[in-house]
Amino acid sequence: MNAQDLIDTARMLVADYKGLLAMDESNPTCNKRFAKLGIPQTEEARRAYRELIITTPGLGEYISGAILYDETIRQQKQDGTPFVQVITEAGIIPGIKVDIGAKGMAGHPGEKITEGLDGLRDRFKDYFQMGARFAKWRAVITIGVGIPSRGCIEANAHSLARYAALCQEAGLVPIVEPEVLMDGTHTLSRCGEVTEEVLQTVFNQLYRQRVMLEGIILKPNMVLPGLTCSQQESVEEVADATVKCLLRNVPAAVPGIAFLSGGQSGELASARLNGMNLKFKLRSPTVGSSPWALSFSFGRAIQQPALELWQGQEANVSKAQQALLHRAKCNWAARQGEYNAAMEGTGV
Ligand code: 13P
Repeated sequence: MNAQDLIDTARMLVADYKGLLAMDESNPTCNKRFAKLGIPQTEEARRAYRELIITTPGLGEYISGAILYDETIRQQKQDGTPFVQVITEAGIIPGIKVDIGAKGMAGHPGEKITEGLDGLRDRFKDYFQMGARFAKWRAVITIGVGIPSRGCIEANAHSLARYAALCQEAGLVPIVEPEVLMDGTHTLSRCGEVTEEVLQTVFNQLYRQRVMLEGIILKPNMVLPGLTCSQQESVEEVADATVKCLLRNVPAAVPGIAFLSGGQSGELASARLNGMNLKFKLRSPTVGSSPWALSFSFGRAIQQPALELWQGQEANVSKAQQALLHRAKCNWAARQGEYNAAMEGTGV
């Protein structure tokens, strides 16, 4: 591992107000989203969709890195050009999802543990050879009655840290993703408490496993009320709660925080990211200046409108690409505290 290379890559991933595009849906997840829209659930359809994304003209102006799935990193454009080459030539850094999914955790009803550590050192070598320079591992924490348990939080934090150490050893920047799910009736304040405990445990484990914090990107959830909670706070309240939680729990050595969208609409995700960056831009007395870049690593909040427009039809590729570019641009603006609702509907 060359420490400076890792630091350089991590910084590039959050430079120039750009962010990450998560396009690493596993085949079952991708198929589920295709099925809802009547798109065939085939390898060719998945390939064509990913070709649409990565050939979007101008994508590299707003997107610094693209997270791929194992099937995707091995695929080519219809004309035979490897996807990794297309992405790199667009000025985008290729990344790879390396966990193999969150499975039911033994002895912990309703909770999950992410798998994928076995053989990971060798898989990292292969992915580096293929051109990947960063990776992603997602841990899932569910809020419910009596959960999350301490056992689930600790096991997931430990796995995240073991993954991150192996990742850095192989010369890839680890995206460390502990996701506290939005599903449920819990309040914003409960999400804040759980997110705080999860982040503290994760950073404790990263420290124990000797992960170099300057060479990681944290990918957390925003602090949000549960999707079915009767009280839904404003953009500003969400921005306040999220920034407060992060300032308390994320060391300043971390170069960047790139949020997942977790099922929020594209517009809300942009507005909330904007709200957070605006607080720092305006030097709100409660926050001072930001110790880390506050960025995005959205999947659905960037892709969903494009997927709905595409519908699996070649004739729709161009308008789907425009929709994708629009969301990427909105989030680039949100990183600067310059996003506003008027950008929607204008197609800019
Ligand atoms: P969403 O933004 O759709 O939550 O996806 C981000 C991601 O990479 C989840 O692991």
